[in-house]
Amino acid sequence: MKKKFLSEGKTKKIYSTENPHEIILHYKDSITALDGEKTEFIQDKGILINEITTFIFKFLNSYGIKTHFIRRINNREQLCVKMDMIPLEFVVRNIISGSLSKRLGVKEGTHSKNVIFEIFYKNDALNDPFINDHHAVFLEIISYEELKEIYKIILNVNNILKKYFFEKNILLVDFKIEFGKNENNQILLSDEISPDTCRFWDKKTMKKLDKDLFRIGLSKNKNKEFVFDAYMEVLKRLNIDCLH
Ligand code: TMP
Ligand code: ASP
Repeated sequence: MKKKFLSEGKTKKIYSTENPHEIILHYKDSITALDGEKTEFIQDKGILINEITTFIFKFLNSYGIKTHFIRRINNREQLCVKMDMIPLEFVVRNIISGSLSKRLGVKEGTHSKNVIFEIFYKNDALNDPFINDHHAVFLEIISYEELKEIYKIILNVNNILKKYFFEKNILLVDFKIEFGKNENNQILLSDEISPDTCRFWDKKTMKKLDKDLFRIGLSKNKNKEFVFDAYMEVLKRLNIDCLH
């Protein structure tokens, strides 16, 4: 059913299928930070990401959230709706961390009473700048009505995932999601949701269970083990059985 290689990103490859409205996403073992400047390979990491993101998209689908996910094909691949991607990254924050901690000078780990939404414009030449709604509309990437629809979906996704992860003793600190439009111009949640795109902290120990372990970086090989073990821990908490 896999037909032609279409394109490749930092962590996935995309293939066409015999259905022009469907694609195959293939998860690689690469992990990157600093806009790809720092790249490593972690054996079987793509398998873990495929399993976690499959689980999360299925879970969101079960709550009526409309996503690009159709089905898992094998341990590295999933069948998805072919999307016309909106070049925006939507970041949602429950606890202050990462770039926002630096930008506002607020201590990492500070809980926010309100959910914080941010938009980053996906543009390599500009280094994915932080923009606001009005910039996105000005750039004719999206309309105010579509933004309103997306914020509604994001809030819903945040509520569902925050509660679910909390039950698994994980704090959903923040995450990044992307949207696209299908052939009928309908907005669907796309891309992935995984420890590569979220910050997960253990509720009791506050230990990081996500890509920050790689971003921060310790000694190289040890670091890879830490990242793999943390992703496995997320898998375990979600009761996903793989790599057997
Ligand atoms: P930030 O604090 O570095 O802005 O990141 C916020 C959230 O977005 C965090 O969960 C990591 C995620 N993220 C990505 O998935 N891809 C990216 O390129 C960046 C910068 C952040
Ligand atoms: N933009 C980063 C990269 O090089 C991703 C990140 O830090 O999450 O892949």
